[in-house]
Amino acid sequence: MIKMRHAALLVLALASAHARADDALYKQFGEKEGLTKIVDDMYDNVLSDPRTAPYFDNAPVRRIKQKLVEQLCVLLDGPCVYTGRDMKRTHAGQNIDRAAFNALVEDLQSAMDKNGVPFHAQNKLLAKLAPMYREVQDRE
Ligand code: HEM
Repeated sequence: MIKMRHAALLVLALASAHARADDALYKQFGEKEGLTKIVDDMYDNVLSDPRTAPYFDNAPVRRIKQKLVEQLCVLLDGPCVYTGRDMKRTHAGQNIDRAAFNALVEDLQSAMDKNGVPFHAQNKLLAKLAPMYREVQDRE
């Protein structure tokens, strides 16, 4: 019985240490509030950037921002659920190429800089986003 209690405590201790470690990156982005600000600033950039703005004519920007906050939160191991659409279908037929993708990523980087996200934390997020190019592009 005592052994079982110890085992249970150990599991709890490990679980909370794990939760803290996982939370760290999300916290460096300022949690949900910070992410919302970053995505707002990112879209100010995206919509005034001639390389990306044309893609968003008639796009539901408010919705995209909400879904992107959820998605980034999940990527940063935050306590969120992504309720948006599948990336491949969402972006299909939009002629997104490498240049447009890189431009959008730069617009995100400026927003992260503006909001004081540490450089190594920025890189961790960018490393998670980079492989998503395969899902959003539909040109080589
Ligand atoms: C890793 C890169 C990207 C991520 C994580 C991402 C994420 C998202 C998300 C979460 C949505 C909303 C999905 C929904 O409505 O449920 C969305 C929509 C959209 N994205 Fe992206 N996106 C990326 C790259 C791009 C790029 C490079 C462009 C164009 C320059 C782009 C243009 C759009 C447009 C136009 C929509 C609206 C589509 C519609 O509702 O008809 N995205 N994206």
